[in-house]
Amino acid sequence: RRIRTAAQRAPRRQAVMSGMPGRVRIVEVGPRDGLQNEKAIIPAATKIELVDRLSRTGLRTIEATSFVSPKWVPQLADAAEVFAAIEKRPGVRYPVLVPNEQGYDRAHAAGAREVAVFSAASEMFNRKNINASIDESIERFLPVMEKARAHGVAVRGYVSTVLGCPYQGEVPLRDVVRVASRMHALGCYEISLGDTIGIGTPGKARAMLRAVAGDVPIEALAVHFHDTRGQALANVLACLEEGVAVVDSSVSGTGGCPYAKGATGNVASEDVVYMLEGMGIDTGIDLPALIETGLWLSSQLGHETASKVARASIG
Ligand code: HMG
Ligand code: MG
Repeated sequence: RRIRTAAQRAPRRQAVMSGMPGRVRIVEVGPRDGLQNEKAIIPAATKIELVDRLSRTGLRTIEATSFVSPKWVPQLADAAEVFAAIEKRPGVRYPVLVPNEQGYDRAHAAGAREVAVFSAASEMFNRKNINASIDESIERFLPVMEKARAHGVAVRGYVSTVLGCPYQGEVPLRDVVRVASRMHALGCYEISLGDTIGIGTPGKARAMLRAVAGDVPIEALAVHFHDTRGQALANVLACLEEGVAVVDSSVSGTGGCPYAKGATGNVASEDVVYMLEGMGIDTGIDLPALIETGLWLSSQLGHETASKVARASIG
């Protein structure tokens, strides 16, 4: 039987008022989601330096790279080299993305202690992104989950296109709930709900989260907003009010998805941390160090930072 959380049990208004977490864990996805969309190949040394700099900001979870097919995402073909070289700071987790058993095996051989599997809530996006139907992609997780359990490797799950699909348009909430609860039932300790194309607005984000939280405990949910239409920070706030305490973001707001044309990066980590700390919510992150890392990254990539907080810091 599912255990209902206090936030879910509370009447609506009370949940909004008292559901705000006192502490939020930021999952920094810049080295993976941020870099996977960069056209020019970035040297492995720069990727390694990025993760190492992030490790020194107080972040506790940094998605370091992705063991997907190098034919599909050439930018991250150096995943093993990068993962081997990054400093593994005690107390910091370094998950990596894996699409299938082959990706898991490569990640495990490289020493990964945490992986993330992913599926979309919409069939068409899943086909374009990983060349599989939703059911087929879930089938592919089974051996990954089995091996991870045997190796004591933690598995996070991503559900993409939770607020809309670039090919299909509207995505029914029941499809989002179905994929999220399936991943949770298979053993993913946390499910990150992704607005892949940054199309959602706060009311829709809230409704989506409530629907999923009816099936998966809110403590096992994270939110992952791309900022294509400038709604990401507002969506994060709406979800915090629902009691979510894990937020994915990308330093300097870099990124996008190679299989979602026009989608921009995740909400910038600097901007999320600024908002949270300003609201009295602890992140454990040294904001000036994070801003400095983001500015360093944007200079390496040769484009301006997408973080407004970072821009303001340089006047
Ligand atoms: P496929 O072509 O159908 O794969 O791709 P396949 O199983 O038929 O294998 C074809 C070839 O790929 C074979 O090599 C395999 O060995 C190789 P060949 O015999 O031709 O030489 N292969 C691999 N090589 C290395 N690592 C692997 C691997 N798997 C197969 N893991 C596949 C299917 C899933 C592999 C491919 O579609 C893929 O890698 N897709 C990844 C796309 C991607 O990375 N998208 C971005 C990440 S998702 C995202 O950004 C959303 C998220 O941020 C949340 C949100 O924003 O909503 C998470
Ligand atoms: Mg993403």
